Order: sequence, then C-alpha cells, then structure tokens
Amino acid sequence: MTTTNDTLEAAWRALQEHAKTLRAEHLRDLFAEDPRRFADFSLKNGDILMDFSKQRLTVATLRLLRQIAQASDFACWRQRMAAGETINHTENRAVVHMALRAPIHAAPDATTGREVAENLDRMRIFCAALHAQPKGGERVTDVIHLGIGGSDLGPRMAVQALAACQHPDLRIHFAANVDGAALAPLLARLNPRSTLFIIVSKTFTTQETLTNARTAREWIEATLPEKTARADADAVARHFVAVTGNRAAATAFGIPASRVFLFADGVGGRFSLWSPVGLSIALAIGFSGFSALLSGARQMDEHFLSAPEKENLPLTLALIDLWNVNALGACSRGVFPYSQSLELFPAYLQQLEMESLGKSVDRQGAPLTRERSPILWGAVGTNGQHAVFQFLHQGGRFVPCDFILLKHADFPLPDHHLRLLANGLAQSAALAFGETKAEAHARQGGATPSPWRDFPGNQPSTTLLLERLTPHVLGQLLALYEHKVFCLGVLWQLNAFDQWGVELGKQMAERLLPCLEAPEETPGASALDASTLGLIAALKAERLP
Ligand code: F6P
Repeated sequence: MTTTNDTLEAAWRALQEHAKTLRAEHLRDLFAEDPRRFADFSLKNGDILMDFSKQRLTVATLRLLRQIAQASDFACWRQRMAAGETINHTENRAVVHMALRAPIHAAPDATTGREVAENLDRMRIFCAALHAQPKGGERVTDVIHLGIGGSDLGPRMAVQALAACQHPDLRIHFAANVDGAALAPLLARLNPRSTLFIIVSKTFTTQETLTNARTAREWIEATLPEKTARADADAVARHFVAVTGNRAAATAFGIPASRVFLFADGVGGRFSLWSPVGLSIALAIGFSGFSALLSGARQMDEHFLSAPEKENLPLTLALIDLWNVNALGACSRGVFPYSQSLELFPAYLQQLEMESLGKSVDRQGAPLTRERSPILWGAVGTNGQHAVFQFLHQGGRFVPCDFILLKHADFPLPDHHLRLLANGLAQSAALAFGETKAEAHARQGGATPSPWRDFPGNQPSTTLLLERLTPHVLGQLLALYEHKVFCLGVLWQLNAFDQWGVELGKQMAERLLPCLEAPEETPGASALDASTLGLIAALKAERLP
C-alpha cells in the first residue's frame, strides 16, 4: 500500500532527478528554446502581473513542484487555516489574519467576525474624530506609534509606502528601538500637548515598547501645569491609546479600557497590520484608505483560496522558492523594490519570512532534513545597484531575486519614472542573461574581453509588476507574500506561525540588566560565561560617573 509519506518522498525524488538536467542549463538557452516563455511563465491577478520566466525552470519543473504541493496536502492545510483550526499547534492557536479583511459572513466563526467588525467600527470613529479636529486651539498634530517587530515593521512600511495618500493634517512617527536614539529626537522636537501615542504590543510585556511607553508617559506628565495624580491619569488617558491582546496590562499602564483596541490571539504579530495594529496606517491615509488596503488583501485571499494551482500566484511564488532552495541550492534571496516608497519592504519581509520559516524542526518536532528559509536581504532600486549589485553580477553566488516595479509612479516627476523602470528591467535581464563572449567583444569596442569584465548571468528572478502603489494594490502585494509564507510552511512541513527562537535572548536580556545596573559586584556572576562577564566589566569600567 502506498502511504501519503511515500507519495511525498517520491515527489521529492522526482524533483531532484529532474533538477540534475536543469542545473547546467543557462537562462539564455531556456529563452532560446521557448520564444513563448513570457506567456508560459507569467500570471496575473488583480493589479499584479507576476513574470517568472526568468526563473531557471520549465513546464515539467512546475508540474513536479505541484506534485509536491499535492502530496503535502496543501489544499487541506489551506482549508484548515481558513476554517480557523488550531494550525499553530505549538502556541495552541488558530491563524486568523485573513478574517481581519473578510466580510463578516466569511469569518471562521461568529465571534471573530463580530469582533473584527466592532474593531473596524471603533477605528473608523477614532480616525474620523482625529481627522475632523477643528483648526486652531489644542489639537493632535503628531502621532507616535510605539511598538517593535510585527507591532512596528508592517505599519511603518505601509505608512511610508502610501506617503502619496498621506492625510495632510496628521504626521505619523515610529519609535521601536529601546535605544534612546529612536524616541529622544521625536520628544525633542514635538509638542506634548499635540502628540498622541499609540502603544502597540500584542503581549504588552515587550521590554523595548514598555520602556519607550514609560518614557513617553513621563514626558506627557512632566508638561502638566498642575501635578496631581488625577491630572496625570487624565493626561495619560488623553494622550495614549493602546493596541494589544492584553487589556489588563494596558489598563494597568493607565490607558482607560475605552482607549484600548484589542486583537485576537490568532493574529500573529507579523500578520497583524490589518488589525488595530494598523491604526497608524488608518490615521495616515484615512479610514477609507485603510479599507482599500483590506479590500486589496481580501482580493488576494479570494484568489489564493479559489484559484487552481496552476494559476495560483502565492502557491507558484512558494514553489519557485522551494525549487531555488531545495533543487538549485540557493541560500539567500534578494528583494529589490524599484520604488522609493517601498524602501522598508525588504525589512518588513525579512520578519515575515525569516521569523516564520527560520525553523529546524517539523510539526512533530523532528529535525528537518531538507533546506528551508533562505536568508532574505534587499535594497531599494536603484540605490542597491550602486551598492550590492556588483556581488549579484560577479560574486559567484547563486542569489535568486524578486524585483518589484510600478507601472505608474506614485510621485511622478517628468523624466524620472521611465528611467527607474529601465534600470529595473536592465538589472533583471543583465542578471539573467549576462553577456556572451561575442557580446562582450562588441560592447567593449572590439577589445579582447577581460575576465574582470565578465558577466556570467544565469541569476534568476521574478518580477512583480504592480499597476500603481495605492492602498488596494499594496494590500494585494502583502497578502501575496503572506500566503506564500503559509505555502512554504506547508511544503517544508513546519509551523510558520510560532517564533520560539526569540525567547532565549529576550529572557537573558532581562537577567543581564541587573548585572549592568549594579554599581560594583555583578550579581549572579558565577553563572555567566567569561565573555559576557568580561564585557560587563569593561562596560562598567568605562562608564562615566
Ligand atoms: O520578538 C519577536 C516578537 O515576539 C514578534 O513576533 C512580535 O511581533 C514582536 O516580538 C513584538 O511583540 P509584541 O507585539 O508582543 O510587543
């Protein structure tokens, strides 16, 4: 009898066998063999065209990759996520970020649907009130979003990405790091009377966020004309809101329950910008803009849930990653948005992909035997061309890339956008095809081509061509990558929704703080390693009185 596991192993073996024939093929030859490559290897959904013709694969490759998806029970896992099953089993949680952008009837259960609708309504009312403040008099002009990791990267990236739709009367700022350099410059130049803080922390225990929040609270309280406990409490109530899963901790901090926005356990930090975590996005671009972001994501969700495997963008993007990592041996992937507004996209994606997929055991806790999560890095184009692209062209490392291009500029200036696009297209083509000896000879004016001017090419890439950078299109893009991560979790048989790997360092930092605070003796010194102890001694010795 053939078991599911046998079928899966057979599918993997077939892929590895097939890879032997393709590893030596050059993209130049694949394009020469198939003039219809662009048509055969591109997909479109909504406002995203995905061209993966410059990946080193064929129709047969995709067929074999889809066999792995089928043997991994991809469709069943997708259904389990949509139905709100506890697929994040190591945290005993469902995975419900799709419900945040779904119509109420499509929520996995009535409670989730109702909570999402209520939250959105509260966000709408809150945004409307801030956007309708009368001119003159005391009003909020600046909002500081305090949060870190998933409570920072998504909203920060989206606010920058959508700067072209920015509401004129509110400025949004972010401070994540516990390094005073993140918050101090903001406090130095803003007026506490016109500043609102949004403390965003799912757990409301994160050291960095709470340290920043306490400093912000002191800053607000210090400006009060009359210092009484009552006045302090009123000021905190007026100048703070919280977004969290831990209402008790937020109210204990001094934020009244009426100014606490909750989100569910099943919304992971890196998937949370669609929840009230995105309040700063809604304040930046208006609630209708935020709704458009959600509707774009919903459009991608519907595509992901219903499109056949052959046409499914997130699944195809995931299968391409799997091919590059497991068959062609890629250890990293470069992400290059040719859009200044998407400058923070690689950093956001790093958390989304690397915190989700950087795992070493499977869902049963057994060591994973196949490679997974490549290192993700990237830079905005064209800047990256003048910094890291030398490495891509001649560094001799295999680095598949994602290029992101916008058909229409979000900040049009005459003479700019087509140059930007020409550069993006030039780089993906130069990386893919390199230059033959004859081409090099001709380009270099007939001189004998020198080895240091050699362009081997064969560096694959996928290009995502977005119609324009609106909230609706950004929603589609982010949901595309979220679902790709989900697919890779299924294909690599790991839990993409926990992040236990961040715990040890967090706890050690808590234990080390008293060692740095103690003026003389280092408490618990005998339990510390020689390196940490030596560094603590050096820090204390050099500390100014
Ligand atoms: O340290 C990692 C992490 O747990 C992320 O997963 C999370 O997004 C971030 O910290 C912030 O956590 P919180 O929202 O609870 O402050």
